[in-house]
Formats: sequence, structure tokens, C-alpha cells
Amino acid sequence: MASALIVYGSTTGNTEYVADIAGQVLCAAGMSVKKINAAGAEAEALCKDYDLTLFGCSTWGSDSIELQDDFVPLFEHFDRIQAGGKPVAVFGCGDSSYSYFCGAVDAITQKLKELGAHVVDTLKIDGDPNPEQENIEQWARRVAEAVL
Ligand SMILES: Cc1cc2nc3c(=O)[nH]c(=O)nc-3n(C[C@H](O)[C@H](O)[C@H](O)COP(=O)(O)O)c2cc1C
Repeated sequence: MASALIVYGSTTGNTEYVADIAGQVLCAAGMSVKKINAAGAEAEALCKDYDLTLFGCSTWGSDSIELQDDFVPLFEHFDRIQAGGKPVAVFGCGDSSYSYFCGAVDAITQKLKELGAHVVDTLKIDGDPNPEQENIEQWARRVAEAVL
């Protein structure tokens, strides 16, 4: 059975909601899925033991891109991830009225590419993710199909 890890940072629960939906879709696609909060995650434990790793993070700040608080310490240790050649996907919630819409998704994607990961796809949600459930499900199915 293929395995997936979902690591997320979410302050008001929006990105966690997306993580939950994506996790359900990956399970339904036949993968074993583990979901962890970025607050308790160690960079060394990401990617290497999984067939797919999903990174979810919302964006904060206004003059510059700020990652969600719980994700910041993990991001500082990203160089420890053995991401070379590993399939990953990145998602996050944001608000397009800010200068850097979902800037965290861009920052994490760029860093993972630098580390040699294979970025399968990215997803940016503008505002409340609840009405976006179908889009989230379709995205997660595409991500699953890319590795199964
Ligand atoms: C003070 C503040 C700053 C924010 N800055 C940004 C930003 O720079 N870019 C963006 O896309 N969204 C920004 N947002 C919107 C949040 O990312 C959005 O509310 C998101 O859904 C929160 O997701 P979470 O509950 O998973 O943390 C900001 C929100 C607040 C309250």
C-alpha cells in the first residue's frame, strides 16, 4: 500500500480543513495516510519514508511573506529533509486581497524544488475553503493519480 504524509500549519483551521479533505481522498484512493501538525513535526521525518508528502501552510504578514507560525520552525530546518526525487504537493489558504496571495505555498514549493523534490502540484485557496470542497477533492485525486 502506498503511503502519504500530510504536514500542515493552520491558525484558524482553514488549511487544516483542506488537509482533512485531501487526506480522505488519498485514503479513498487506497493510500495509507498520516496527518501531522507542523508544530510537532521534525524535518528529518518528512518525505523519505513516504511515497507522497503533502505540505499545507497558510500565509500571514502584509509587507512580506510570513508562513503560519507553527510552520516557521519546521521551514527553518527544511535542509534536513531528504527530499531528492520524492513526490510532494503543496497547498494553503490565503486571501487574494493581500500583496502575496498564498505566498507560503510559493516559498515552500521553491524550497522543495531546490532540495530536489518532484513537485506534483500546488493548490491555493482564496478565502473560506468550505465552498471549495469539490475543487480540493479533484486536486487531491490528481495528486494521488500522479504517484499511484
Ligand atoms: C494579519 C493577517 C495577515 C494575512 N496575510 C496574508 C498574506 O500575506 N497573504 C495571503 O494570501 N493571505 C493572508 N492572510 C489570510 C490568511 O492566510 C487566511 O485567513 C487563511 O485562510 C488562514 O488559514 P489558516 O486558518 O489555515 O491559518 C492574512 C490574514 C491576516 C489576519
